[in-house]
Amino acid sequence: TNETYILGIETSCDETAVAIVKNGTEVISNVVASQIDSHKRFGGVVPEIASRHHVEQITVVLEEALTESGLNWEDIHAITVTEGPGLVGALLIGVNAAKAISFAKQKPLVGVHHIAGHIYANRLEQEFDFPLLALIVSGGHTELVLMKEHGSYEVIGETRDDAAGEAYDKVARMLELPYPGGPQIDRLASEGEVTIDFPRAWLEEDSYDFSFSGLKSAVINKIHNAKQRGETLKNEDIAASFQASVVDVLSTKTLKAAKQYNVKQVIVAGGVAANNGLRTVLKEKFSSTNIPLLIPPLHLCTDNAAMIAAAGTIAYEKGARSGLDLNGNPSLLL
Ligand code: KG4
Ligand code: ZN
Repeated sequence: TNETYILGIETSCDETAVAIVKNGTEVISNVVASQIDSHKRFGGVVPEIASRHHVEQITVVLEEALTESGLNWEDIHAITVTEGPGLVGALLIGVNAAKAISFAKQKPLVGVHHIAGHIYANRLEQEFDFPLLALIVSGGHTELVLMKEHGSYEVIGETRDDAAGEAYDKVARMLELPYPGGPQIDRLASEGEVTIDFPRAWLEEDSYDFSFSGLKSAVINKIHNAKQRGETLKNEDIAASFQASVVDVLSTKTLKAAKQYNVKQVIVAGGVAANNGLRTVLKEKFSSTNIPLLIPPLHLCTDNAAMIAAAGTIAYEKGARSGLDLNGNPSLLL
């Protein structure tokens, strides 16, 4: 048959994930073991704990993904794995598992960039139309990427300091909310009102870069000053005001870039794509244009391996191959 079955492995942060994808577009199996509960009491991902969990989980998750697919090893065309960026110890577990299978089962090995994965999560929902613009907003990344064809990525803007998700998590920590803070702030924001005019970092006129550390500091100062003056600030209002600032900058820059580059599609990816405020405002802004906006369902927004297999399929079809010297690269460029 002409079907291509690609196995994907993702262990760059705190999810141990294995998936099998058919023809780069159809999820056959998608297993994710989350470690969130183990990191919660530390208020963030502890790298050493993450690595240990990956070691314990990887073979279990691998077997589950294969069993769930109903396929045999003979059916799998290639092993694809997140090569970076991410936590080096965490990446190494996935990379070594991928190398072991590649060697034992004599399958081609392909290293995949984590962000390419987040972008390709969208292709599991709808075929791409180029040129397309991708807004990637996660715990580690905030990037605007222009794609003129499959597998080609041009970063036109990125954060100069904190990632959007990182800002969410840090503000949540200030409000003593449990990790991960993004969904918590999102929920609070829906119950509050925008009562505080937090700053928006537009940067230079023609820049598509982002900056969230000033906003984060403004929130911290606001909370601090209110405490000293004995003022009562509602957490819901802080959350709503903070979110309004983040969403305003993200959506405005995305719309501007989409128009400037005349794109045929805009896709949103990464954990913060789950944010209700961002989804609502983006939908609103793009509804007045003729540019289709794609936002994947929640389970494809956060880290998973189906997205790695989807991006890996394109790399595999283009002839990309990694050797058994493949290494985890925490600062891999897109
Ligand atoms: O893509 P992801 O699962 O992992 C990374 O590659 O970083 O993204 C995780 C990030 C965390 O910072 C989390 O707080 C944030 O995505 N996040 C959200 C929401 N859901 C997850 N941020 C804002 N609103 C949400 N609903
Ligand atoms: Zn991610």
